[in-house]
Amino acid sequence: MSEHRYPLGHVLYRKLNKRFPLITRGEGCWLVDEEGKRYLDACGGAFVANLGHGVAEIGQAMAEQAGRLAYVNGTAFTHEPVEQLATEVAALSPGDLNEVYPLCSGSEAVEAAFKFARQYWVETGKPKKHKIVALTPAYHGNTLLALSASAREHYKTYYREWLVDVARVPAPYTYRCECSGRPPLCPACDGSAVEEAIVRLGPETVAAFSAEPIGGSSSGATVPPADYFRRIREICDRHQVLFVADEVLTGAGRTGTWAAISHFGVVPDLMTLGKGLGGGYAPISALVAPGRLVDVLANGSGALLHAQTYSHHPVLCAGALAAVRYVQRHKLIERCAAMGQVLHRKLQALRGLPSVGDVRGRGLLAGVEFVADPETRAPFPRGRGFAERFTALALEEGLVVWPNVGQADGTNGDLVMLAPPFTISEEEISELVRRFSRALERAVAAGKAGAAEKAVEAV
Ligand SMILES: Cc1ncc(COP(=O)(O)O)c(C=O)c1O
Repeated sequence: MSEHRYPLGHVLYRKLNKRFPLITRGEGCWLVDEEGKRYLDACGGAFVANLGHGVAEIGQAMAEQAGRLAYVNGTAFTHEPVEQLATEVAALSPGDLNEVYPLCSGSEAVEAAFKFARQYWVETGKPKKHKIVALTPAYHGNTLLALSASAREHYKTYYREWLVDVARVPAPYTYRCECSGRPPLCPACDGSAVEEAIVRLGPETVAAFSAEPIGGSSSGATVPPADYFRRIREICDRHQVLFVADEVLTGAGRTGTWAAISHFGVVPDLMTLGKGLGGGYAPISALVAPGRLVDVLANGSGALLHAQTYSHHPVLCAGALAAVRYVQRHKLIERCAAMGQVLHRKLQALRGLPSVGDVRGRGLLAGVEFVADPETRAPFPRGRGFAERFTALALEEGLVVWPNVGQADGTNGDLVMLAPPFTISEEEISELVRRFSRALERAVAAGKAGAAEKAVEAV
């Protein structure tokens, strides 16, 4: 067995200074490496493997489609998989979100949503409307417009000159806002910070406001106050700003409903899907828009100006169609809601453990925020790399989690995310919590040892 790390071999890995286990197969919630070590995939890869690993029928549907028709140019032809997938997604999506534009990644869907908003306003005779308002913390992707809208400063380090200005508003991040999500709500939590930004920019210049309905990794599965999005809807309507719900991470059932925005009883103007839409079997995303907006483009320039070779791809659409039908046939969104309650109940055992500041989320999406001092909520200094160390130790314990950093103040802050497949069992959830607790114990002990070493060095 050879080692898998740069510069051995020819892969330009996503990390250039670590050794990668080579995974040979996946079964349900488990990954198995070439040495036979089993990992509990507690974050579905990257919030992707909603159906679990190794569901052969999805791959079969894709193989059959590739054998019949692998690709056609989406400007010249349509085909059954895209027609059927769009029908299914439209039926599942809230309100009048009925028109589906498939792409490949979440970032592409976000770019398409912003471009759609801009094009819509130009074609309705309001060409001054081009500005975007977004939250901090938030993540909307890594291509340049999506990155501009993201509040992930360390991703922007080398690219600032290429990014566009996006107005930032504090997110309803209840663990760290002024009101902790309790009345009287602070401007971040009651939506007034969004209105203030729109008014400051001039509503006649604002095209779109974007938000993740339930925080993704950036705010560690933060659930906004119950009325937040109703207020956002009302503000966006009053100022003629399109509300983009970025459901790349939360959509396709992850929080126990097809779209997380449905928990808030609100219909956005545009919605993006990605990640779980293809369950990891197909790299597919989608922009979902209502006919009332698409009609403007249809009667204007006649097309969304966001052409990409692999949009509307037959094999990817066949994979997503098989995944969506599988989820429905096995009632996996209902299962996600039910097992989500089990997950959150069992995760309560982590509260009170050293360095655990908060545990939160909805459905099978959870965030655990680590702090240096649970009383003051002071984060660890970034240099300690707590989230990274925890994640590495969790991997040693055979538990895959998703770390994120910087949410406390843009630089400091450590959290990890959990988002297991919807098929996870109660026993597997207990195993997840056991492995999590062991990794935490080791991370805290290693932190103390590190601190002691530093103290010795200082002497
Ligand atoms: C909310 C949200 N939007 C967009 C994206 C970008 O998706 P992708 O990495 O598939 O481009 C992500 C990825 O994590 C996300 O969480």
